[in-house]
Amino acid sequence: LAEGDRHRPRFHFVSPAGWLNDPNGLSHWNGVYHLFYQYNPLKAVHSRIHWGHATSPDLITWTDAPVALVPGDAANAADADGCWSGVLVDDHGVPTLVYSGRRGDRELPCVAVGSMDLTEWVADAANPVISAPPASLDLTAFRDHCVWPHPGGGWRQLIGSGISGQGGTALLYASPDLRNWSYLGPLIVGDSGDRETTADDWTGTMWECVDLFRLEPAGADDEPVDPDILVFSAWDDGVTRHTLYLTGRYSGTRFDRTALHRLDYGGRYFYAPQSTQDARGRRVMFGWLQEGRSDAAAETAGWSGVMSLPRLVTRAPDGTLHQQPVPELETLRRDHVRLGGFTLTGGERRAGLTRGDQIDIVAELQLEPGSEVELIVRATQDEAERTVIRITRPGDAHGDIALELIRTASSLDPTVDATPRSGPIKHVDGRIDLRVLADHSALEIFANGQPLACRVYPTREDAQGVEFVGVRGRVHVREAASWRMADIWHSPRRLWPAL
Ligand code: FRU
Repeated sequence: LAEGDRHRPRFHFVSPAGWLNDPNGLSHWNGVYHLFYQYNPLKAVHSRIHWGHATSPDLITWTDAPVALVPGDAANAADADGCWSGVLVDDHGVPTLVYSGRRGDRELPCVAVGSMDLTEWVADAANPVISAPPASLDLTAFRDHCVWPHPGGGWRQLIGSGISGQGGTALLYASPDLRNWSYLGPLIVGDSGDRETTADDWTGTMWECVDLFRLEPAGADDEPVDPDILVFSAWDDGVTRHTLYLTGRYSGTRFDRTALHRLDYGGRYFYAPQSTQDARGRRVMFGWLQEGRSDAAAETAGWSGVMSLPRLVTRAPDGTLHQQPVPELETLRRDHVRLGGFTLTGGERRAGLTRGDQIDIVAELQLEPGSEVELIVRATQDEAERTVIRITRPGDAHGDIALELIRTASSLDPTVDATPRSGPIKHVDGRIDLRVLADHSALEIFANGQPLACRVYPTREDAQGVEFVGVRGRVHVREAASWRMADIWHSPRRLWPAL
């Protein structure tokens, strides 16, 4: 790894080196958080995938653990060509992983059993535990797992898939022992009506990393009509599109959907998330922040992929998900700066917040109808590089506010992705609770609990500037504060095979 790598995050989880993609086996086990992840320790490319592993007392500071799963040595091992995504379950006290073993170009369900500290894993001799996808269907793919104990005993499992000519799906299975599975049918199939390949809520030809959980709406008076959430990442023949979720109700063998939503306005930049419920009853989610630079650039850097900050996921009164970084993140805040209330009109600028490439910003904004404000981050002195977070309230007082991330000038490097990201934000009276976390190439924005995660690659050392710009109309900044964020990676990390 290059010394002083300008793009490598310092308060996000990253792998010691090499390639990282999906979070796996996310769990809070005996008071310790465990994050496993899709990992190629040898090279920053997606090839023979292992399971990396790290532990944390607080979801913020991490200690590397030995690589948990290594593809099987024997040529006929079910996971000879990779240990793909999966989950950890507590099988009557025995930690057990359910994952996709890859061999050739197929993936099939495998299990491995672990030591009580979750550091040593033994793949089951009977792998794969399901020897083929259901023959009755013409499937586009068959991988990734969501497994939970069935209230009546035994287990249920969803496997991500897609039915040719129909759309993405999650296939439901049942088992008494995590080893013998019977196929129950598709839980739900993506609407062919959703098949608009350019739309940012297209449900794709295959669903990767399905995650089903229950989350009652906040507020005692709300009717829990559709308490269940089905998260999936829409995939189309090798192209990772974006992550979506359905609200609805899961009952037995069906998921009755009420609505489809985008999980994160960053699109493919927040992909393949997994969530767990911790001992405090909180729903915590991580996702993979993909690269926006070329494969060659990542390979040269020696690392690829960033884990998102841990998110606390709750239910807004309107039934949609509300996401925010877990409060533990605030322990990394240093050097508090506060700007009191002020009003920006067209053309006015206001600096004063913490500058830098490792910062946390919170702002309470109120936009009058027809107003627009920008928060500029990672700007060079001459503004040759600048990343623009734009918030626009339409003249129609009831319309949604638009959140946009504009990256056309984020980097002078012409090879990095500069496509914009955007989406509508619900609001009351023009109020926006904005949170912006910039950590070198990782950028996570939250507006009224709606996230937009992305990557930016400023090339210049002075790309540290932060400023509010009133574009038009009147915008009240009721409160704005910022911090420099501490580094979570102080000591050198040992690299494979030393682990
Ligand atoms: C999602 C995914 C999964 C698969 C894993 C392979 O990003 O493609 O479907 O299990 O990554 O690394």
